[in-house]
Amino acid sequence: MAFTPAEWPRRLRSQEWYGGTSRDAIYHRGWLKNQGYPEDLFDGRPIIGILNTWSDLSPCNGHLRELADKVKAGVWEAGAVPLEVPVFSASENTFRPTAMMYRNLAAMAVEETMRAQPIDGAVLLVGCDKTTPSLMMGAASTDIPSIVVTGGPMLNGWFRGERVGSGTALWQMSEDIKAGKISQADFLEAEQAMSRSSGTCNTMGTASTMASMAEALGMALSGNAAIPAVDSRRRVMAQLSGRRIVQMVKDDLKPSDVMTRAAFENAIRVNGAIGGSTNAVVHLLALAGRVGIDLTLDDWDRLGRDVPTILNLMPSGEYLMEEFFYAGGLPVVLKHLGDAGMLNRDALTVSGGPIWDEVKDARNWNEDVIRPADRALTSNGGIAVLRGNLAPDGAVLKPSAATPALMKHRGRAVVFEDIDDYKARIGDDALDIDETCIMVLKNCGPKGYPGMSEVGNMGLPPKVLRKGITDMIRISDARMSGTAYGTVILHTSPEAAVGGPLAVVRSGDMIELDVAARRLHLDISDEELGARLAEWDKREHRAVAPDSGYAKLFHDHVEQAHTGADFDFLKGCRGRDVPRDSH
Ligand code: FES
Repeated sequence: MAFTPAEWPRRLRSQEWYGGTSRDAIYHRGWLKNQGYPEDLFDGRPIIGILNTWSDLSPCNGHLRELADKVKAGVWEAGAVPLEVPVFSASENTFRPTAMMYRNLAAMAVEETMRAQPIDGAVLLVGCDKTTPSLMMGAASTDIPSIVVTGGPMLNGWFRGERVGSGTALWQMSEDIKAGKISQADFLEAEQAMSRSSGTCNTMGTASTMASMAEALGMALSGNAAIPAVDSRRRVMAQLSGRRIVQMVKDDLKPSDVMTRAAFENAIRVNGAIGGSTNAVVHLLALAGRVGIDLTLDDWDRLGRDVPTILNLMPSGEYLMEEFFYAGGLPVVLKHLGDAGMLNRDALTVSGGPIWDEVKDARNWNEDVIRPADRALTSNGGIAVLRGNLAPDGAVLKPSAATPALMKHRGRAVVFEDIDDYKARIGDDALDIDETCIMVLKNCGPKGYPGMSEVGNMGLPPKVLRKGITDMIRISDARMSGTAYGTVILHTSPEAAVGGPLAVVRSGDMIELDVAARRLHLDISDEELGARLAEWDKREHRAVAPDSGYAKLFHDHVEQAHTGADFDFLKGCRGRDVPRDSH
């Protein structure tokens, strides 16, 4: 149902640009009219910005311009004016040194794009890993009504009768080559099967996780996360979201109304239930900081600890996003959590109502894909937050992707000083390492890499792989791809490059991991640790600040992983107001 301008409850911010008869209003309207907009489109109806992360170099988001057309149709239907706006698109598979280094830049650009322009409401068209959190962070810092539409996952990949999961198959096959299980020709043939349609990674990697987080937070319409990119219902979702944002503007339903503490608690539990990516930890911590919610790593551990992982998707399980959609999608998971008393049912969503209203009637159409709790993949699926003298500010591990037998282990450290050191030595059969050792990688954190790259799931040494071993404990200050798996301890904080204890681990040290006790301990005395840290302080370390450009801004202002690796000066909501016109 479209609205007439007379029905709008207040003067919209876009009227600061387009309303009235002043010279400035004529300037703003007149230039936009070169696109052929009739006079009555400036009569006070809302301007909806469709913030589009489409880019030819962001293939996961390569179909978003078609989706934008459906959003536009919905906005027009509801009586508002849609204007498509390109925004910074940090693609996971092209950006170097890592897309994560640009998440905050993208968020800053989105925030300023929204605030500086006549946008009354925004549809955030996102998909690839960093595009979803960056646009949500930017929108949160303006508090302009916003709704998320993700591009949806690719269809299942198939190779020789087996599902090929995005990323997961890449990691698995690269290990299989080193173990001599498959040939390079097999690997190249499988490449053709990995990405058979438009869309984001089809595993429960970071893109699918963040799409699920957006829905669980209430920032997307119910059912958005799992619809495949090429399914006609994805386009329906886009059109409905276009209609919906217009009503949200009318109601002034803001990100801060939706992304409450209750919503974040729901999202953390959902992450445990779906076996979601560890990357969600840093993104949600940063996002919470934008809306002024004091979310901590301890919240992740406390809220997720008893949540069973019920979604049987790679990398934790067997299936892919396409099957998740056919089984009923995220509403089924939310209903399960609600029935189990693990959902804040009253949390508001962009629908304007409580989340429970959206999911209470959801039905599970495939109980092998979305398991009942008594057949869960793991009974404690949340993110385990480890602490100890090796990680005073915390480190994370994803139990559903780890090997149960390694959850309590004492092993000899084999240390790599940085990723180049790892690459140079890991293939050498003379390396003093076996499957009982613990691999330690330094200088891959927020400042050290820089950007906290997804290298934490270091491949195992070939000589270990040839024994048929598929997992070892790995510790680093890096992240890992949401599509990856293994007993991998990540986000160790403080990072090595700023002098965290990780910096002074030496090959031969003994390390103790006890996931049940949430303990990560370097087995040296406090005196020895103190002496090593004092010695480290005297040395010129790696994190030398770049002297110019974005790299300098990043280095000078990025925070540590345990608070979300946002920039210190970007935390919080700065609102939607701009002080004055430019003319
Ligand atoms: Fe873009 Fe996975 S690389 S979604």
